[in-house]
Amino acid sequence: MTLGVNMSKAKSSRDRRIAPLGVSRVTRSSNNPQECQRSKPTDSGLVDDLSLMSVSEQQASLARKGKSPSLSTKAVLSSPSGSSVPRGALETVGRLMKLGRVRNIVVVAGAGISTASGIPDFRTPGTGLYANLAKYDIPYPEAIFNIDYFSDNPHPFFSLAKELYPGHHRPNYVHYFVRMLHQKGLLLRMYTQNIDGLEKLCGIPDDKLVEAHGSFATAACHLCYTPYPAEEAKQAIMNGSVPICTFCAGAVKPNVVFFGEDLPEKYFQHAEDFPKADLLMIMGTSLKIEPFASLVNTVKSTVPRLLLNRYPVGPFERRPLRRADYMELGDLSDSVQKLAEILGWHTEIHDLMNSHENGLSYTDPSNSSGENSDSSETDSMH
Ligand code: OAD
Repeated sequence: MTLGVNMSKAKSSRDRRIAPLGVSRVTRSSNNPQECQRSKPTDSGLVDDLSLMSVSEQQASLARKGKSPSLSTKAVLSSPSGSSVPRGALETVGRLMKLGRVRNIVVVAGAGISTASGIPDFRTPGTGLYANLAKYDIPYPEAIFNIDYFSDNPHPFFSLAKELYPGHHRPNYVHYFVRMLHQKGLLLRMYTQNIDGLEKLCGIPDDKLVEAHGSFATAACHLCYTPYPAEEAKQAIMNGSVPICTFCAGAVKPNVVFFGEDLPEKYFQHAEDFPKADLLMIMGTSLKIEPFASLVNTVKSTVPRLLLNRYPVGPFERRPLRRADYMELGDLSDSVQKLAEILGWHTEIHDLMNSHENGLSYTDPSNSSGENSDSSETDSMH
């Protein structure tokens, strides 16, 4: 049986799988998103706050050009007397949270949340992973995560995988901030593109997490999808050999989603989550990879979207900004810490981080269940 025959069989069997929630099959691609059509704003309490905001276009445009990466969109909130009080994005969103106007936060994250843990992102010129793959001798950087390229030559990915396997890095303040959102009962779901496992490691429970681009926690044949023990796959890869499927003799790989592969079923949870969201926090992603990138366009137009990133990305690159869009540009750890201070959570996050990092309730990175003795505890902000 040739590889091609195997692949088409595997693909057609997956095509027949019925996606939950009535959403059709979605495959990863790197096309840029087309913005969804705006729907008519609905009458919501939040509109009262948000319609008072105006964005300093000049500042945002400077940041887009990379001239001043550390700034925030300015909101101007008019007081009943007519005088204007300038507010930054973090202050405005923090205020909504403190007022109890936000109860279902969806976090959308990318590699930028892990750079403070010492893991490079993908696309930052110079330091990003894709700028540093010359030694693998691949035709173009993203080939290393392309399923057809892998099928032809799995060695470049396996060499890189030795470095990418979780275990060498610790979660940072940003991860613990998201865990605190959960503990305060405010996290509806975190959608991450990251494969470093740091969300689970910091104690965000499985049911609050969608690892949209998969993870190293499980492994399977890339042709017939027969599961393979993850630890055995890891040992083979670390020893420089290719783990082989006992069923069809195809190469086994960790269940990281490659370009051209289907996203995990859990991803389709977005069809229920995003309409329920009352705040979207977008952190450390270039929003370049579909279908993930377009998720941010699926919240109601009145739902505030807060971008925390070095530069404007996705819909935040367009002018004018949607009126409920806020962005804080600069270093993510700094921005998240500022927001935590506004919320009065900073010390609590530090304490949580210290106690967790001291190993009181540590999770083995290879533990796919993500269970922690304390991770399912929630307390409420209200
Ligand atoms: P990218 O590298 O494309 O984007 C990371 C974004 O985070 C960029 O906009 C950076 O400017 C920003 N950033 C990095 N460090 C930051 C910091 N300390 N503070 C603020 N912003 C910072 O990464 P992703 O969007 O996650 O696929 O890439 C998406 C997918 O592309 C990944 O999932 C990956 C890749 O192909 C796989 O892992 C298989």
